[in-house]
Amino acid sequence: MDGPAIEIAHVRCVFGSQTVLSNVSLRISAGETVAIVGESGCGKSVTMKVMMQLLQPTSGRLKWFGKDVETLSAVERQQQRLRLGYLFQGAALFDSLTIYENVAFGMRQTGLQDEQQIRSTVLERLEEVGLSPDIVGKRPSEISGGMQKRVGLARALALSPDVMFYDEPTTGLDPVNSRRIDDLIDSVRQTRGVTGIIVTHDLRTVQRVADRVVMLYPRSKLQNDVEQIIFDGSLTELANSSDERVHEYIGDEFTTNTARESDMECRLPILKSA
Ligand SMILES: Nc1ncnc2c1ncn2[C@@H]1O[C@H](COP(=O)(O)OP(=O)(O)OP(=O)(O)O)[C@@H](O)[C@H]1O
Ligand SMILES: [Mg+2]
Repeated sequence: MDGPAIEIAHVRCVFGSQTVLSNVSLRISAGETVAIVGESGCGKSVTMKVMMQLLQPTSGRLKWFGKDVETLSAVERQQQRLRLGYLFQGAALFDSLTIYENVAFGMRQTGLQDEQQIRSTVLERLEEVGLSPDIVGKRPSEISGGMQKRVGLARALALSPDVMFYDEPTTGLDPVNSRRIDDLIDSVRQTRGVTGIIVTHDLRTVQRVADRVVMLYPRSKLQNDVEQIIFDGSLTELANSSDERVHEYIGDEFTTNTARESDMECRLPILKSA
């Protein structure tokens, strides 16, 4: 893929009397992994939902793979939407369905009926996320939170997305499971060339997987018309930012760690061997 994968321009989002986003523009290039950070309630998830068209902004433009979504026919829009996968907080699995049916769900939605093909894809994707085929008959409540996240990822990957959206992929997980998810996010990118957009508060995740960081600042704390994205750059630039608001969010520890982890020569072999 060449060019921008996802682009929003001049997005404004108002809920009642609350303006959450005003004039936010962001272009995500194909192949990059971008972390969107910022304090709670600043509009990160809203931004992500606008990018997926799960939420209609008050005004603004949305492009998928260089095409204005408004100009697409319903069929084209549906086709393009299938290129976008997502993993939400809590994995959002269907409790009443088995793991097998959860992973198969998207494929069935697209009209695929070849059970043999569905079965082999389900098993392949579960293997890709490091899960045993023995769990296919279980319900989500019978497996751990970390495993549920991996099933959610397997479900998204079953449709071979070009872009993956991850909303707080490691929230609520212990350090071992967080690292496992981070490694999977990175491996999805390395093996499939998937573009990644990650909303997270977990700075370790940012350090491990992102090559670009965007920081959103709450609209309510800014003067009108001031840029709401207060930072957009690499991990090294983030660590070296002179903006006090950036430092308040990332803390001093990030600066020290980043000097080591943001070096691509150093970072990639570490993640590859994981
Ligand atoms: N559908 C909605 N209707 C009304 N208000 C909404 C809606 N979605 C989000 N909001 C409001 O928009 C603001 C931003 O929400 P959002 O979920 O994007 O925050 P966030 O940056 O993702 O925060 P967190 O880090 O806590 O997840 C919040 O005040 C929220 O209450
Ligand atoms: Mg959120």
